[in-house]
Amino acid sequence: MRDKITQKTFNPLTLEKKIEEEKQGTAYHGNSNDESEKLAYIETYGCQMNFSDTEIVASVLSEMKYGFTNDESKADVIFINTCSIRENAESKVWNRLKSLKQTKKNRPDLLVGVLGCMAERLKSKLLEQEKLVDMVVGPDAYRDLPRLIEEAGGGQKAVNVLLSREETYAEIAPVRLNTNGVSAFVTIMRGCDNMCTFCVVPFTRGRERSRDWQSIVNECQELVTEGYKEVTLLGQNVDSYKHLNEATGEVCNFAQLLEKVALIHPDLRVRFSTSHPKDITDDVLFTMAKYENICNYIHLPVQSGNSRILELMNRGYTREWYLNKVKRIREIMPDCGISADIITGFCSETDEEHEDTISLMKAVKFDYSFTFAYSERPNTPAAKRMKDDVSEDVKKKRLQEVIELQNLHSKESNLSEIGKIRKVLIESNSKRSDNDFCGRTDQNKMVVFPKKEGLSFGDYCRVKIREASSATLKGEIVEE
Ligand code: 5AD
Ligand code: SF4
Repeated sequence: MRDKITQKTFNPLTLEKKIEEEKQGTAYHGNSNDESEKLAYIETYGCQMNFSDTEIVASVLSEMKYGFTNDESKADVIFINTCSIRENAESKVWNRLKSLKQTKKNRPDLLVGVLGCMAERLKSKLLEQEKLVDMVVGPDAYRDLPRLIEEAGGGQKAVNVLLSREETYAEIAPVRLNTNGVSAFVTIMRGCDNMCTFCVVPFTRGRERSRDWQSIVNECQELVTEGYKEVTLLGQNVDSYKHLNEATGEVCNFAQLLEKVALIHPDLRVRFSTSHPKDITDDVLFTMAKYENICNYIHLPVQSGNSRILELMNRGYTREWYLNKVKRIREIMPDCGISADIITGFCSETDEEHEDTISLMKAVKFDYSFTFAYSERPNTPAAKRMKDDVSEDVKKKRLQEVIELQNLHSKESNLSEIGKIRKVLIESNSKRSDNDFCGRTDQNKMVVFPKKEGLSFGDYCRVKIREASSATLKGEIVEE
């Protein structure tokens, strides 16, 4: 029998998680088992999409009878699933690969493979560089892993970085390794056609394509059967999800997909990420409002509060458009949590234009935001056509200002929860104490509260909020 994989808390879409991932990457924890001939160790960096891809890779490897280990010294093959979004994300992987070089010296049979965005961006350059790796596998080539592993095992350098217009891994059942058994990610589309000028994703993940809705619904249904209580539908731009059934001519858009998933089970929470301000429709908002189990939370990256910068970024909306979208969200769902991504110091951004970002933040008061200093990525439209002319010091200073303001707003938003009673899905024990549970509200706020007998992970409870900091809420379970 295949051993049960070690359970580990996995909180989707939280700031802490995102920062933690960027800092150190996360290895999948698992146990070897009797059937497995060989062991794989997979380390994942970057966004939730990469974590979801690692589950596809694990599925392909399972088919090959690989087991999984969290001890890299026991692994026959080590995969690093990589991120290219900012320069520091790539630097971390380079350092990691250099440290693995020593390991490889002592163990000549060990295979090391680079997966994901860096594989796609750097291609065979990764093989040439100091002979650090044996396999380079782009995000659309995971079905080819059996051949690539065999080739690398035979002493050849193995590369597949072909991007596909069709691949959605639709029928591959992800192996959920690092799971709490409560929340799971379900990829609904791949790639991105937006071409925001700062972004490397359209080059590393290729053209946008939507996965067959039926296979998404089937996967969510299966998760419900396994006891999962929450799915997060993932895509670079979920609002442009569109699937055409060639045989029947039936088209399914994101609002319709959301509805189909919400209808699977009333106790299944449905979340999604990432929305795009230019594409999110009233239909999506009304569908969210209509179903109690679709969480009232939208991650709506703004990037900048200045219309000239937004134009240079090719975001497809203005400051006013964004503010109107937020107004519309709040008209339809007054209680909706909203978070954003913000970039400081994009090409030619002036102090006044940065102030527009600050004033937009003050107007919206995001519940959270993920904030970044602009990092030029080779071959992106911005790198080709614009000058990265805001000094690192100024980028950092502006970033600091944005972070401080966000902390203030997060705290304000959390303080306003005090006294409210929220429905919370219990996800795990609190990090600080085994006497406490933690879970999230509909609006994606993390709450810590004392345990109550008879309740466990995956149960819902009602929690009265008593205390708040900028990061978490504390409360206690109340009866209905
Ligand atoms: N520099 C800084 N931040 C970036 N992002 C994407 N590309 C860059 C870049 N070159 C940020 C955007 C995006 C998030 C996932 O990462 O804010 O929404
Ligand atoms: Fe990058 Fe823009 Fe696509 Fe997001 S929407 S992945 S920022 S190109």
